[in-house]
Amino acid sequence: MALIIAIINGKGGVGKSTVSINLAGALDKKGKSVFLVDSDPQGTVSDWYGSRKKQPVEKLLHKNLFITDAPWNAEKLTAKLKQLSRNYDYVIIDCGPANDSIEKTVLTLSNYAIIPVTPSPYDIRSVKKTIDLIKEGEKLGAIKVKSYLLISRKIVGTVLGREAREALTSFGIPVMKTEISQRIALCESGIEGKTIFEYAPDNPAVEEFKNLRKEVEKWQKQV
Ligand SMILES: Nc1ncnc2c1ncn2[C@@H]1O[C@H](COP(=O)(O)OP(=O)(O)OP(=O)(O)O)[C@@H](O)[C@H]1O
Ligand SMILES: [Mg+2]
Repeated sequence: MALIIAIINGKGGVGKSTVSINLAGALDKKGKSVFLVDSDPQGTVSDWYGSRKKQPVEKLLHKNLFITDAPWNAEKLTAKLKQLSRNYDYVIIDCGPANDSIEKTVLTLSNYAIIPVTPSPYDIRSVKKTIDLIKEGEKLGAIKVKSYLLISRKIVGTVLGREAREALTSFGIPVMKTEISQRIALCESGIEGKTIFEYAPDNPAVEEFKNLRKEVEKWQKQV
């Protein structure tokens, strides 16, 4: 059965799509089969995939996710993901910058949620909305997702990451050990339709995404 991981945060621009693509790339690199799902109406992952169409992609796939308007109604998505679950090791769902019915539905279906958050006081404050959504879903019995915060877009050489980690612990949700730094190569790789593993294999971002993969692989053993 696939491990289903939602990459979610109602705040825009925190690195959800970058994390989705490169975590998928990291797992693919390790020989895992990954289905990367775009549940964002903006279609960032679809655009990224569109620009890499002619490159060989064997295991790393992409399809648009069924988007439902019915809050907490996961019927069709469940069917789709059940089918994917049989054929893949991992399903990674890139969410849009919202906490709406699509995100609720994704949460009903996911085993894990990674919540990327940038080390800025504004973003740290606003992540509470996504955490509250998850807590609401848990209280209603609609979701059983295990959530982790992930420091994303950390500026190298600053103490903002450490300060953010301290601030984030007050939310009562574990913070992943891995931190994803702000790196121009990550931005460029997205434009080229490549993962960082393909675009800049020697970039330090590769090590960070390998570390993220290691944390995620441990989850697979717990399910
Ligand atoms: N670690 C990083 N280093 C450098 N650039 C990054 C990094 N993470 C994200 N970016 C850049 O920041 C912008 C926003 O990132 P991304 O699209 O991944 O965020 P998002 O949370 O998915 O946004 P949205 O909420 O709009 O879907 C993009 O231009 C992306 O290339
Ligand atoms: Mg995005």
